[in-house]
Amino acid sequence: MSKFPKEFVFGTATSSYQIEGAHDQGGRTPSIWDTFSKTPGKVWNGDHGDMACDHYNRYKEDVQLIKELGVESYRFSIAWPRIFPEQGVYNEEGMNFYRSLIEELKTAGIKPVVTLYHWDLPMWAYNQGGWVNRESVNWFLEFAEVCFRELDEHVDSWITHNEPWCASFLSYHLGHHAPGHRNIEEGLKAAHHILLSHGKAVQMLKTQFKSSTPVGITLNLTPVYGKTQSANDMLAVNNADGYTNRWFLDPIFKGAYPYDMMNVFSNYVHDFSFIQDGDVATIAVKCDFFGINYYNRSFVEYAGSEKFLFVDAHSDYEKTGMGWDVSPQEFKELIYRLRVDYTDLPIIITENGAAYDDVLEADGSVHDKERTAFMEKHIKAVAELEEEGMNIAGYYLWSLLDNFEWAFGYDKRFGIFYVDFDTQKRYWKDSAKRYRDIVASRSIEV
Ligand code: NOJ
Repeated sequence: MSKFPKEFVFGTATSSYQIEGAHDQGGRTPSIWDTFSKTPGKVWNGDHGDMACDHYNRYKEDVQLIKELGVESYRFSIAWPRIFPEQGVYNEEGMNFYRSLIEELKTAGIKPVVTLYHWDLPMWAYNQGGWVNRESVNWFLEFAEVCFRELDEHVDSWITHNEPWCASFLSYHLGHHAPGHRNIEEGLKAAHHILLSHGKAVQMLKTQFKSSTPVGITLNLTPVYGKTQSANDMLAVNNADGYTNRWFLDPIFKGAYPYDMMNVFSNYVHDFSFIQDGDVATIAVKCDFFGINYYNRSFVEYAGSEKFLFVDAHSDYEKTGMGWDVSPQEFKELIYRLRVDYTDLPIIITENGAAYDDVLEADGSVHDKERTAFMEKHIKAVAELEEEGMNIAGYYLWSLLDNFEWAFGYDKRFGIFYVDFDTQKRYWKDSAKRYRDIVASRSIEV
């Protein structure tokens, strides 16, 4: 039996566009995800977030669920187009929604952890180039400033950005996420401006607001393994790791982009002057914790025909409903590596979870055995890491509710509460009950 220390925080997480709905309520204007999801062929089944879980209108009921779950903290994000529906036009009504949500959480004794950017860039910003335009840093700072001004005293921790890799490479280079561009130079610029806006926002919170609220950034990290130990496969591992992990970790913790990747990218991009003098030092600003979203390992092999010389290899690991490898051991190895190579900051697992094909039984139960097992394996790994002194400060299950899973629409269910999207009724899955028991006992059998 492993016991979690009393300071360890259990929570659950969501994001604005994935659950709120109310796309045209309260003065909100469209984000890139409204536009992208309504572009034929971009999202499974033509799904979009107009209604999602209707959380904007049902937040009280949802806070009640979080309370019954017994977790100490809830991580959510603020929809930028609710706060600035037009450039430079602050919308108090949008802010009021988050004030009410936070008040409801506080009354229920739940600590709010707030992400500023979880991918719903306002269309007005996109129309001027989005994250590819360096001005985006200033737009983001204007947004961050009012969030800090209005909410800082009520917030437990701030997360500037969620998964910059997805918001840049997956969105501007690979084209799978909004805005769906396929251009490596744009991907690199977007990544740089997002990271820069992180550094500047942290500086603003600490110097302008003299705030002591802990602040950090959340990266999606995917430890990469090779099909074989051959030199070619190791090259594939190096480049895949550089593309997904090191391009973000190195500037944040080492104050420099990885030179080997700079070299790889320079085959396709010849002008790196968008990285200006002093930028990387800003990105490397000291934070209070480091957030990690962990879902799976990656398994690759060499492919000479690919731009970066790697492709996904066939892996015989057990898979989640996303086809992702269930890999709790690799999660532990990732943390060991971060401790050796990057940081001794407290690490918060800001997301971990899995999609599976759930069945809602006639009696309202959902026996999601696989999700429950996935969760147990990863919480055990966290408990072991804690015992080894790895300083993991918290664990947030993704997600509270089944929700809009980006390009997969409502096809993939990550919730520990089942949502019937026709009636908006929420149902406890078995995983939610198991999580409630783990949280209540603050321990897990190992
Ligand atoms: C990480 C993202 O932050 C979240 O929005 C997404 O739903 C999960 N991964 C699952 O793919």
